[in-house]
Parts: sequence; structure tokens; C-alpha cells
Amino acid sequence: MTGFGYLNGVWAPLDRLHISPLDRGFLFGDGVYEVIRVRNRRPFRLEAHLERLEASARGILLNPGKSREEVRDLVFRLLEQAPASGEALVYIQVTRGVQFPRSHAFPPPDTPPTWFLAVWPFEGYPEEIYTRGVNIALFPEVRWRWVHLKTVQLLPNVLAKEEARRKGAFEGVFVTPDGLLVEGSSSTLFAVRDGAVLTTPSSTPVLPGITRKVVEEACRGLGIPLREAPLRKEDFPRYDEMFLASTTAHVVPVVAVEGESVGKGKPGPVTREILKRVLAIYFAETG
Ligand SMILES: Cc1ncc(COP(=O)(O)O)c(C=O)c1O
Repeated sequence: MTGFGYLNGVWAPLDRLHISPLDRGFLFGDGVYEVIRVRNRRPFRLEAHLERLEASARGILLNPGKSREEVRDLVFRLLEQAPASGEALVYIQVTRGVQFPRSHAFPPPDTPPTWFLAVWPFEGYPEEIYTRGVNIALFPEVRWRWVHLKTVQLLPNVLAKEEARRKGAFEGVFVTPDGLLVEGSSSTLFAVRDGAVLTTPSSTPVLPGITRKVVEEACRGLGIPLREAPLRKEDFPRYDEMFLASTTAHVVPVVAVEGESVGKGKPGPVTREILKRVLAIYFAETG
């Protein structure tokens, strides 16, 4: 199986689905999306993802034209095409539809949005990112302020990830001119200091990560305090540990920032405990 999808009522292998070049998602990045991790055809935290998709659509004044129930039904129909066991990803994208002639202004309100859903197998990341930890690169925070909406305008994220790749790092983390470490190009950033977990305040423009919530639950279960606090570039030598969290990677220990060691330069005990607990939650809910 290479990937199967749904596009505006048509179900087919991904290479047989085609969008119009006049789709506003293609022309303007005028759309929102979600990525959901799946195991044994069971989507992890589906409702939270659908809720965030609705919030993102509302945030860009996009009427998705489908109810939560309709979208959930599409996801479960799609999952019949996923491997019966093992892991997969479900991708959902909604755009403001096709418009002619091209115009920045919204199309007429009866323009149907474009709905695209896809599923493909996902093997996860190499085990060594969890056992050895990863390096992160820093990238200037050049994004717009509404990054709490999960839109397909991802060029800064793409450039941050490429910068990371060129530096041999796993992730590019956005840093503001005054040294605030905001979040990764596709992950939430955490630090550990004196036994407490710190993460960027939700009042800062960041994506409200679904995995961040799972990390919060894990910390509660483990009795580890978790606080919102600005993570600062100049503070990172004082952090005992750092880690990233995302749907596709769960929890990944960060052992270096731009090549400089964090803590002891290897995955720390708090991160390892949280990773273990997050995986336990994931396996329990997708068993
Ligand atoms: C910018 C950004 N921050 C954080 C995350 C992590 O969010 P989640 O845990 O919902 O995958 C993502 C996921 O893609 C992201 O794109």
C-alpha cells in the first residue's frame, strides 16, 4: 500500500487523485490541516485533532461544510484502507476551494471547500533518536502571529526543517530576536530544570500541540510538575534536559542545541520517564 485517499467524494490511490491548479490551497496556502497517528487502524486522539481542525477553520473564516460526524465517518472509512496492524498516518486538509478568476478576495460563499484525506503507512523514526537523542538547529521566528491555527502556509517551517537537515540536526526551532525559543518546525519544545518540566506559555503564538496535552497527562501521572515558562536561548546551558513532542515522533530527547550539549549531552531521566508514559498511553489507546 502506498497511500490511499479521498478528494471531494472520490476514493482512490493517491496517485490517481488530482486537484485543480485554481484551488486556493495551492494558490494561496488558504487551508488548514491535521496529521493523526494511527496504530492497528485506531486513530490516536482523533477528537482532539478534529476539534483543532474546526478551530483552525474558524480562525481563517473557512466554512468546512462538513459536520464533526461526517468528518469522523470519512476518517473511519479511510482507515479501512490502512494496514490492519502496524502504524499509519492520516492526513486531513480543507481549503477554501476552487475559484476563477484568481482573486485574493474570498470566493462566493457557496463555493465548495476542497476536502482531502489520505492514509499511508508510517514506520516511525529510527530508534536511535530516542536512545541517543537529537541535535536541534535554531531558525529565526519569521512566521505570522496566528500560528495557533494549523494552516498549510508552512514555508517558514519548511525552511527551518531544511536548515536543520543541512546542519545534521533533527529539528529547526524558531527563535525570536530577543532569544525566546518558541517551538519546532513541527513539534513542541520542552525543557527540564530542577525536576520540573517547562514549556512555552500558550499565550505565546504557538500551535496548541495534541502531544503537548499527552505530555501534560504523563507528567500528572508521574507526579512531575509542568509549568509554562518562556524558554530562552541564553538559559539552555542551565537546562538539565530538553525534549520535543509531536504526533509523528511522540517525545524525542534533545541532547544538543546548535552542536552545544544540553545537560549531560545524553537523554535525561525525566525525558525518558515521560517518553515511557506517553508511549504507554498511546499503546493503551490504540491496542
Ligand atoms: C508548528 C508545530 N508545533 C507543534 C506541533 C506538534 O503538534 P502535535 O503534537 O499536535 O502534532 C506541530 C505538529 O505538526 C507543528 O507543526
